[in-house]
This record gives sequence, structure tokens and C-alpha cells, in this order.
Amino acid sequence: MPGLFITLEGVDGAGKSSHLDWLADILRQRGHTVRITREPGGTPLGEKLRALLLNEAMHPETEALLLFAARKEHIEQVIRPALAAGEVVISDRFTDASFAYQGGGRGVAPARLAILEQWVQDGLQPDITLLFDVPPEVAAARLAQARAPDRFEREAEEFHARVRAAYLERARLHPERIRIIDGTGSLDAVRAQLQAILAER
Ligand code: TYD
Repeated sequence: MPGLFITLEGVDGAGKSSHLDWLADILRQRGHTVRITREPGGTPLGEKLRALLLNEAMHPETEALLLFAARKEHIEQVIRPALAAGEVVISDRFTDASFAYQGGGRGVAPARLAILEQWVQDGLQPDITLLFDVPPEVAAARLAQARAPDRFEREAEEFHARVRAAYLERARLHPERIRIIDGTGSLDAVRAQLQAILAER
């Protein structure tokens, strides 16, 4: 596909959302058409599923299935068409989040998630994944200042520690795709890391 697919990942409070618009602006300045999207969500059906996922208690595997159902819709309606049109797609979270939260956080078997990944993505993978990494105590301190926390953000610090460990394991398994950003520094320090990664491409 002619476009470029970038995903942003990290535990809640890692700061990825603060850098999204800035990253999009940089790419637009370089002449790219940039589409910003998010998961869960990104389509009308996906946004309805997001509301359920963030608010309703459910079995961990139900959660995984709904996330991948929303993802299928997102891929077919938004991501593939945008990439085919040569756009840069930046998604605030994608499948690595399912391995981190449902796998690491909730204990869903990674082999089951891998089956869904293969089914739903049919070979589609991000070109670059920027993994914003911060220790759980830094993430917790930032979340404490945030507005009403959702079902995931209300989880205990151990949950977020497992999510982080699962993200780092994904990065170890896919070093060519996943770049770890140290999210503990200032906004400028994080931007410098992002700029260095973009310069490589
Ligand atoms: P996010 O958009 O980062 O939250 P916010 O808008 O509050 O910054 O993500 C919403 C939540 O969804 C986040 O806590 C992680 C969770 N999530 C999963 O558990 N699995 C997934 O596959 C995805 C995409 C998100």
C-alpha cells in the first residue's frame, strides 16, 4: 500500500495523546495528507462499541472480541481506504493495545489474540508503532490529575504494570516496527525523540 500507517501506544498516562496533533502537523508540513483516528472507535459503529467497552463490565474475552470487531470495521472502512489513497494514517492505539490490556492486563491468552489479529487484519500491520513508555508510578500520578477515569483507568497500579510489561514484550518481539519512546521527559525531550525517529524514515 502506498500510504503510511503509524500507531501510538502506551499505558494510560504515558502521554501519547499530547503528541498526536504535533506529530500530525509535522507530517502535514512535509506535504502528507494525514488522517487521525483512534481505537476503540474510528467509525460510527466503533464509537458505539467504545462506549460499551469503556463503561460496561464484561468477560475479558468478550472485551477482546468486541475490540477486534470494532477493529475490523475500522480497518475496512477507514484504514485500508486511506492507505490506498496514499494518506498517512495515525491511529491512537491499535492491536498492540489488545495484547497489552486484554493479554497482559486481563490474562487473555496471547495465542487467542493472535488468531483474532490474523483474522481481522489479514496481513495489515502498522509501518511504525511509537510506544510511549513510563513507569507505572509516573502514569498513576498523571492519571490522578485527569478527568473522570474510565473502566481501564480505574484499574489498580499492578494492572498497569502488567500492561506495560506486555507492551515491552511486544516491542522485544517486533523491534523493526515498534520504537520505544521514553515518556518521562519534558514535552520537548519527547518531541526530540519523535523527530529523530521520523528523520530515519
Ligand atoms: P484511550 O483512547 O487511550 O483513552 P483516553 O481517551 O481516555 O485517553 O483508550 C481507551 C482505553 O481502551 C484505554 O484505557 C485502553 C483500552 N484499550 C484496550 O484495552 N484494548 C485495546 O485493544 C484498545 C485499542 C484500547
